[in-house]
Amino acid sequence: MHHPTRLPIIAGNWKMYKTPREAIDFVRTLIPLLEPLSAAERVICPPFIAISGVAEALAGTSIKVGAQNVHTQTAGAFTGNISAPMLQGLVDYVIVGHSEVRQYLGDTDAQINQKVKAILAHGMKPIVAVGESLAQHEAGEAAAFVHSQLRGALADLPAESIAEMVIAYEPLWAIGTGRNATGELANTIIGGIRHTVAAMYGDDAAQAIRIQYGGSVKPGNMAEFMMQPEIDGALVGGASLNADDFAALVRIAIESKQHDGR
Ligand code: 13P
Repeated sequence: MHHPTRLPIIAGNWKMYKTPREAIDFVRTLIPLLEPLSAAERVICPPFIAISGVAEALAGTSIKVGAQNVHTQTAGAFTGNISAPMLQGLVDYVIVGHSEVRQYLGDTDAQINQKVKAILAHGMKPIVAVGESLAQHEAGEAAAFVHSQLRGALADLPAESIAEMVIAYEPLWAIGTGRNATGELANTIIGGIRHTVAAMYGDDAAQAIRIQYGGSVKPGNMAEFMMQPEIDGALVGGASLNADDFAALVRIAIESKQHDGR
């Protein structure tokens, strides 16, 4: 049975798509579609440069804004970077540990842990992304690897902030490939993630934290994921760039969780 206090959360990770102008136009299309769907939390994560325009366009709506990354430090000689105090007040959520940031920018679990601490210290909520490679998946190492990622990324956090956080399980082999995990497999790994959180911060925190699936989520497979009791939402790339698809994902999430006996 799905935990009654876990509001489904669907986040659109736009990655490096949409200029600031395109972002605002898109959000104006999105607002009337998403605003009525308040039985799920809806989060838009545009590129940094579009965040303030998007936040302004969304002011007065129930749709939240997120960033796609943040620096570990609050300020300093770090050319090209954005810090938590710069995002504070503009966004509610910050994605950290996305596999593309781990791969192309070399983020380690220790750095992700520092980023999580910076986000929490500045009143925002982290969406911590974890997931195994294709080779690890095929070697049956997914659960163990994700466990080790979480041990690092979630180390030494204030216990009271765990319930506010979101974890996204995104198997690398499913991202942008059109090859999604099955609902059952994702539910098993996500149940394991909840176990790890329980071991680190106790059962209450583990039952409260929301855990998303990500990787080739589309309207056609959304119900398969959202019918699973451990899965609380989705982190969506490609399908979040289409307003009708994104709204459909939110609608399916709400319907699926209602069928889950709530
Ligand atoms: P796709 O939905 O395009 O597979 O991307 C998933 C993702 O990486 C979201 O963060």
